[in-house]
Amino acid sequence: MPSFMEPFRIKAVEPIPFPSGEERRAALVSAGYNLFRVPAKAITIDLLTDSGTAAMSAAQWSALLSGDESYAGARSFERFESVVRELTGFTEVLPVHQGRAAERIVLHRLLGHGDLSVANTHFDSTRASVLAAGAEAVDLPVSHTDGAANPFGGNIDVPALKTLLSGPAGDAVRCVVLTITNNANGGQPVSLTNVRETKVLCDRYGIPLLLDASRFAENAYLVATRSADLAGLEPRAVARAIFDLADGCWASLKKDGVANIGGLIAVRDSGLADRCRDQLIETEGFPTYGGLAGRDLDALAQGLVEVTEPRYLRYRAESARWFAELLEQAGLPVLRPTGCHAVYVDAGRLLRHVPPALLPATALANELYLAGAVRVSELGTLVFGRPDPEGGPDLPAPRELVRFALPRRVYTANHLEYVAEVAGEVAAKAGSLRGYRVVRQVGRMRQFTAVLEPV
Ligand code: F0G
Repeated sequence: MPSFMEPFRIKAVEPIPFPSGEERRAALVSAGYNLFRVPAKAITIDLLTDSGTAAMSAAQWSALLSGDESYAGARSFERFESVVRELTGFTEVLPVHQGRAAERIVLHRLLGHGDLSVANTHFDSTRASVLAAGAEAVDLPVSHTDGAANPFGGNIDVPALKTLLSGPAGDAVRCVVLTITNNANGGQPVSLTNVRETKVLCDRYGIPLLLDASRFAENAYLVATRSADLAGLEPRAVARAIFDLADGCWASLKKDGVANIGGLIAVRDSGLADRCRDQLIETEGFPTYGGLAGRDLDALAQGLVEVTEPRYLRYRAESARWFAELLEQAGLPVLRPTGCHAVYVDAGRLLRHVPPALLPATALANELYLAGAVRVSELGTLVFGRPDPEGGPDLPAPRELVRFALPRRVYTANHLEYVAEVAGEVAAKAGSLRGYRVVRQVGRMRQFTAVLEPV
C-alpha cells in the first residue's frame, strides 16, 4: 500500500492506448529502435519526461480564459511578472517559450570563444548552448560511489570549484550555474549550504551565480526535509532563500510551472536584462509575451503558486520513493535516495554483460517498451557519451542510467504498479538482453533522432 495519496481528484480523463505485442515490436522497428521516434499513440504509460506533460488544475484551465492576448503590455504578463517577482525576488522578468530559449539567450550574452561555464552538472540542452556560444562547459558534481546515499547528491563540488577558480583557468570562467534539482545527476537536490558556499566563491572572484531553476520547488521541498536546520520551513521560504543567493535564474516552466509550455529568465542586473530583452525580441517575441500566448502566462502564474504547496510536494516525493521501492522489488537496481521528478535505474549494473559502447541503458529502455508499452528515457552513453576523436567506439558516459520520469498529477499509483510489473518481467530476463549500435546520428543531441539496430 502506498503511504501517500494523490492530493487531487480527477475531473477530465483521457483514454490510454494498449498496443499488442506485435504492434509494439512493429512500432519500435519502424522507429529505428529509438523511443523518441515512437508515436505516443503506441505508448501505454509514458514516463519519457516530466517536461510539458503535467495535468493542469481546474484553476489553471479557468485562468486560460482570462488570458489577455494584447501584443504589448498584456495583463497576463503583469500577473505572471508579479508571481515570479514575489517567488524569486528578481526584479527583471522575461517570459520565453521554453527552457532552452532562456539558456540560449542568457548564456550567449555571457559567454564567448575560450570562456568557461562551470556547473554542478549542465543539463544536455544547457551544455549545447554553452558549446554553441564557443565556450566550454565544465561539470563539477559531488562524486558518487556506488551505494553511497548522499542526501544532497545534486551539489557542486565546492573544493573543486575553488581549485578551478583560483587556478590558471579561473580567469576564463564567466558564470557558475547550479541546476536545481540536478536532473543529469539523479534528480538530486542542491542544499542551501552548497548554494551559500558557491556564492561566497562567486563573490570572491566576481563571477555571477545563476540557477537553472526548472525544478526549484521540488529542490526546496527535498532540501527542507533533508536539512535539520530547515525543519518546519515552508518550501516557498526555502526556495526564496536559494533565489536570494543567486544573481539570476532561468527555468523551463514545463516542469515546476505545472503547465505544458513556457520558460523564464529572471535577473537582478538591469543591464543584463536589457541585453537579454534585445535578443528576446529578435528570436522569441515582444518582452511581455516572449513566444507564449497570454493565456499560457496566466496558466503558469497559477501553476507557480500551486507547485509550492507542501501537500502536493510531499505527494511528489513520497510517490517517487514508493515507486522506487516497487521497482527495486521487481529486481531493478534503483538509485537512492530518490528525488521527486523521476526514479533512476542503473542499467549498467543490471546488464553487466552489455558494455557501454553497446548502450545498456537503451537496451533496458527498449525492452520495457517491448514488454508493456512503457516509455522511459536513456541517460547513458547515447545521451552523455562522446565520440572518440580517434574514430573508435564512443567514450562511455559516467553511468548507464534509465530514467522513469513522473509527469505531474498524471498517473495514479495503479499506473505505477503496472510499470513495476512490466519492469519485473524485464528484470527476470535481463541476462538475455542484447545491446544496440548507432547506425545513423546527427549533431550534439543525437539521442532525439538517432537510428539504432540491435547487435
Ligand atoms: N534545464 C533542465 C534542468 C532541464 O531538465 C531541461 C529539460 C531544460 C533545462 C530545457 O528545458 O525542455 O523547456 O527547453 N529537460 C527535459 C527533461 C527535456 O526531459 O528532463 P526545455
